[in-house]
Amino acid sequence: MTDPAIRLAGATIGYGDVAIVRDADLSVRRGEAVAVLGSNGSGKTTLSRGLLGLATVLGGTVEVLGAPVGRLRERGRVGYVPQRHTVSGAMPATVREVVGVGRLPRLGLFGRPGARDRAAVAEAVHAVGLADRLDDPVAALSGGQQRRVLVARALAAEPELLVMDEPTAGVDAASQAALAGVLARVAAAGTTLLVVTHETGPLAGVLTRAVVVDSGRLTYDGPLAGVGAATGPDCHHPEEAARPPVRGYRLDQPRPAPDAVRLRDGSR
Ligand SMILES: Nc1ncnc2c1ncn2[C@@H]1O[C@H](COP(=O)(O)OP(=O)(O)OP(=O)(O)O)[C@@H](O)[C@H]1O
Ligand SMILES: [Mg+2]
Repeated sequence: MTDPAIRLAGATIGYGDVAIVRDADLSVRRGEAVAVLGSNGSGKTTLSRGLLGLATVLGGTVEVLGAPVGRLRERGRVGYVPQRHTVSGAMPATVREVVGVGRLPRLGLFGRPGARDRAAVAEAVHAVGLADRLDDPVAALSGGQQRRVLVARALAAEPELLVMDEPTAGVDAASQAALAGVLARVAAAGTTLLVVTHETGPLAGVLTRAVVVDSGRLTYDGPLAGVGAATGPDCHHPEEAARPPVRGYRLDQPRPAPDAVRLRDGSR
């Protein structure tokens, strides 16, 4: 358990032969809760997909839970909430069934769900505030509710590493607060979190460290609170500096000024 949850060393990740994230160094210890920030198209999704084996590692090293990406023996040790996806509108499955899919990697080849699996599904659905919709078809849920079903599916797997790509996008404020509470509990239980987000406000109490991706490069790695230093006198948008500090980081804020950038060494 001494291996980091995530280790990137000189990692280049992309699609086909096109590099998107370049020469990235990042080490996330088990149990850390890290925000991935950056403007649209900067490479956040590509970075997180690279951790799942869904984007191509074109160079360097990408290791997840101590194993090269894609070679992780036990599926289910890494949970993933993809960006934008809701559940297919044509899907006749119920909330219980879709969330139950999250348990499949834990069942074994011919395994049938047991009491522990049913409890994990019920807990996950309760955690995202959809307990009263357990037997409803997911197609009957709103887009934001469907996002929460996908969060529940990832939680039900009880993963060691949970990668979430904008889990709060399109989700109302009350549900964001509920999700923050859930993630706080999951993090306290030792799960490593990597959360791509454009707005850290709701999750500021959970995510302590931040990584900023800018044009495929990691340009900041440090305390989440430190990203706010970007609004210092050297920032590219002086009008932002004049505003009172806002809780959380938004992407309409300027990027970190060069002197605010603190890159960790790879040993972290
Ligand atoms: N499947 C793909 N094939 C080729 N290029 C892609 C693919 N997906 C994304 N890209 C390109 O990779 C770059 C980074 O995209 P990515 O989705 O990682 O950005 P992002 O930081 O997640 O942005 P957003 O905040 O909009 O979600 C973009 O230029 C995009 O066009
Ligand atoms: Mg994205």
